[in-house]
Amino acid sequence: MQALAEKSGCFSCHSMQTKVVGPAFVDVAAKYKGDAEAPARLAQKVREGGKGAWGRIPMPPHPNLKEDEALQLVNWVLSAGS
Ligand code: HEC
Repeated sequence: MQALAEKSGCFSCHSMQTKVVGPAFVDVAAKYKGDAEAPARLAQKVREGGKGAWGRIPMPPHPNLKEDEALQLVNWVLSAGS
Protein backbone atom coordinates (compact mmCIF):
# COMPACT_ATOMS: atom_id res chain seq x y z
CA MET A 1 0.00 0.00 0.00
CA GLN A 2 2.86 2.32 0.81
CA ALA A 3 4.18 1.73 -2.71
CA LEU A 4 0.79 2.29 -4.33
CA ALA A 5 0.39 5.50 -2.33
CA GLU A 6 3.82 6.68 -3.49
CA LYS A 7 3.08 5.75 -7.08
CA SER A 8 -0.25 7.55 -6.91
CA GLY A 9 1.33 10.76 -5.64
CA CYS A 10 -0.52 10.82 -2.32
CA PHE A 11 2.65 11.79 -0.47
CA SER A 12 3.10 15.01 -2.43
CA CYS A 13 0.25 16.35 -0.29
CA HIS A 14 0.02 13.96 2.66
CA SER A 15 2.32 12.42 5.19
CA MET A 16 1.61 9.88 7.88
CA GLN A 17 2.20 12.05 10.93
CA THR A 18 2.10 15.70 9.89
CA LYS A 19 -0.17 17.96 7.90
CA VAL A 20 1.30 18.93 4.53
CA VAL A 21 -1.18 20.25 1.95
CA GLY A 22 -3.71 17.69 3.07
CA PRO A 23 -4.31 16.29 6.55
CA ALA A 24 -1.94 13.78 8.16
CA PHE A 25 -3.15 10.23 7.62
CA VAL A 26 -3.08 9.60 11.38
CA ASP A 27 -5.52 12.52 11.78
CA VAL A 28 -7.78 11.13 9.03
CA ALA A 29 -7.75 7.76 10.78
CA ALA A 30 -8.65 9.38 14.11
CA LYS A 31 -11.45 11.46 12.61
CA TYR A 32 -13.25 8.53 11.02
CA LYS A 33 -12.59 5.94 13.71
CA GLY A 34 -15.74 3.87 14.15
CA ASP A 35 -17.45 5.31 11.04
CA ALA A 36 -18.54 2.25 9.09
CA GLU A 37 -19.41 4.28 6.00
CA ALA A 38 -16.14 6.18 5.87
CA PRO A 39 -14.16 3.76 3.66
CA ALA A 40 -16.60 3.84 0.74
CA ARG A 41 -17.22 7.56 1.04
CA LEU A 42 -13.53 8.46 1.24
CA ALA A 43 -12.59 6.11 -1.58
CA GLN A 44 -15.07 7.95 -3.79
CA LYS A 45 -13.66 11.28 -2.65
CA VAL A 46 -10.09 10.21 -3.46
CA ARG A 47 -11.17 9.24 -6.99
CA GLU A 48 -13.42 12.24 -7.63
CA GLY A 49 -11.74 14.89 -5.52
CA GLY A 50 -13.43 17.07 -2.95
CA LYS A 51 -13.06 19.69 -0.26
CA GLY A 52 -14.57 21.06 2.88
CA ALA A 53 -13.82 18.34 5.42
CA TRP A 54 -10.48 19.78 6.57
CA GLY A 55 -10.38 23.29 5.22
CA ARG A 56 -10.67 25.20 2.02
CA ILE A 57 -7.95 23.46 0.03
CA PRO A 58 -9.50 20.84 -2.25
CA MET A 59 -8.04 17.41 -3.00
CA PRO A 60 -7.79 16.91 -6.75
CA PRO A 61 -9.43 13.85 -8.33
CA HIS A 62 -7.43 10.67 -9.01
CA PRO A 63 -9.43 9.11 -11.85
CA ASN A 64 -6.64 6.67 -12.74
CA LEU A 65 -7.11 4.77 -9.50
CA LYS A 66 -9.40 1.80 -9.82
CA GLU A 67 -12.27 1.62 -7.36
CA ASP A 68 -10.72 -1.26 -5.46
CA GLU A 69 -7.32 0.46 -5.37
CA ALA A 70 -8.87 3.60 -3.93
CA LEU A 71 -10.71 1.53 -1.33
CA GLN A 72 -7.52 -0.34 -0.39
CA LEU A 73 -5.63 2.92 -0.05
CA VAL A 74 -8.35 4.44 2.11
CA ASN A 75 -8.50 1.37 4.35
CA TRP A 76 -4.74 1.61 4.69
CA VAL A 77 -5.01 5.32 5.57
CA LEU A 78 -7.74 4.56 8.10
CA SER A 79 -5.51 1.99 9.78
CA ALA A 80 -2.68 4.53 10.01
CA GLY A 81 -0.89 4.51 13.28
CA SER A 82 -2.09 1.05 14.18
C1 HEC B 1 -2.71 17.88 -4.55
C2 HEC B 1 -2.73 17.46 -3.16
C3 HEC B 1 -3.31 16.10 -2.78
C4 HEC B 1 -3.02 14.85 -3.29
C5 HEC B 1 -2.09 14.51 -4.46
C6 HEC B 1 -3.76 13.91 -2.49
N1 HEC B 1 -4.50 14.54 -1.55
FE1 HEC B 1 -5.73 13.66 -0.16
N2 HEC B 1 -6.29 15.50 0.49
C7 HEC B 1 -5.78 16.71 0.05
C8 HEC B 1 -6.48 17.80 0.72
C9 HEC B 1 -6.22 19.28 0.52
C10 HEC B 1 -7.43 17.17 1.56
C11 HEC B 1 -8.48 17.85 2.46
C12 HEC B 1 -9.79 17.98 1.69
C13 HEC B 1 -10.93 18.50 2.51
O1 HEC B 1 -10.73 19.42 3.31
O2 HEC B 1 -12.05 17.98 2.37
C14 HEC B 1 -7.27 15.73 1.41
C15 HEC B 1 -8.02 14.78 2.08
C16 HEC B 1 -7.83 13.42 2.03
C17 HEC B 1 -8.56 12.43 2.80
C18 HEC B 1 -9.66 12.73 3.81
C19 HEC B 1 -10.92 13.15 3.07
C20 HEC B 1 -12.06 13.56 3.98
O3 HEC B 1 -13.16 13.81 3.45
O4 HEC B 1 -11.89 13.64 5.20
C21 HEC B 1 -8.10 11.19 2.42
C22 HEC B 1 -8.57 9.83 2.93
C23 HEC B 1 -7.08 11.42 1.42
N3 HEC B 1 -6.94 12.76 1.20
C24 HEC B 1 -6.37 10.41 0.79
C25 HEC B 1 -5.52 10.62 -0.30
C26 HEC B 1 -4.93 9.53 -1.07
C27 HEC B 1 -5.11 8.05 -0.79
C28 HEC B 1 -4.20 10.13 -2.05
C29 HEC B 1 -3.42 9.46 -3.20
C30 HEC B 1 -4.23 8.70 -4.12
C31 HEC B 1 -4.33 11.57 -1.89
N4 HEC B 1 -5.14 11.83 -0.82
C32 HEC B 1 -3.71 12.52 -2.70
C33 HEC B 1 -4.78 16.89 -0.89
C34 HEC B 1 -4.24 15.89 -1.67
